[in-house]
Amino acid sequence: MELLGIDIGGSGIKASVVDTATGEWVSERHRIETPQPAKYEAIMETLSQIADHFQWKGPVGCGFPGVIQGQQIQTAANLHKSLIGKELGKDLADIFGQPAYLINDADAAGVAEMRFGAGQDKTGVMLFLTIGTGIGSALFTDGKLVENTEFGHMIMEYHDGKFGKAEHYAADSVRKKKDLSWSDWTGRFNQFLEAIHFITRPSEIIVGGGLAKRGDKIEDYLKSPCPLHFATLKNRAGITGAALMAEKNL
Ligand code: BGC
Repeated sequence: MELLGIDIGGSGIKASVVDTATGEWVSERHRIETPQPAKYEAIMETLSQIADHFQWKGPVGCGFPGVIQGQQIQTAANLHKSLIGKELGKDLADIFGQPAYLINDADAAGVAEMRFGAGQDKTGVMLFLTIGTGIGSALFTDGKLVENTEFGHMIMEYHDGKFGKAEHYAADSVRKKKDLSWSDWTGRFNQFLEAIHFITRPSEIIVGGGLAKRGDKIEDYLKSPCPLHFATLKNRAGITGAALMAEKNL
């Protein structure tokens, strides 16, 4: 089946038509910069432009970087506070005039990696992490998703003995902002892996997001407590997974 997948991110809002049987994209990807500040009205305007571009007649799936419950946005850590409480799932259906389904962006990307990428046919507890502006997570038991785990918001001990959120310490945006060397940043990431492994005990970890493309930079410093793979769908996972989840839930 073909569905329109959308991925709302901190820097871009991206969409493509996805063939959910193969995971292939059957249209060009369309990307529009995320408006700054990313207020709700501005995001809705961008989504309207995406609707105009595709003129899509069929179900729509959309990933969003925050907790989604009952198709409502509950948190928006790296976007604007005005998004919290908004019924984006319902508003998407209005904008596109089509059935629409909203899901957390990391959950969407994890679903796609489990179906078509590094997690194919893997059973037991699998942990997918997306490392970019923030840290997103998706936890699977025998292929079934536990939604909205938000492990990037876990409080952990930093190397200087202070405590804070994992994503404020080990997201890729922190590496860029603080201009950390790859070895320093990977040291932080190793600490996060240790902490999250202690709590969730996955048999394997899959790492996606912007960082999946930089595996060569960190592999010499990486110390994972269990087998770790880089995501193979790279930046295609979010859009593809949003389409897969829409197909499953609509
Ligand atoms: C958000 C998550 C999201 C992650 C990656 C975090 O700040 O709270 O919902 O999955 O960033 O975008």
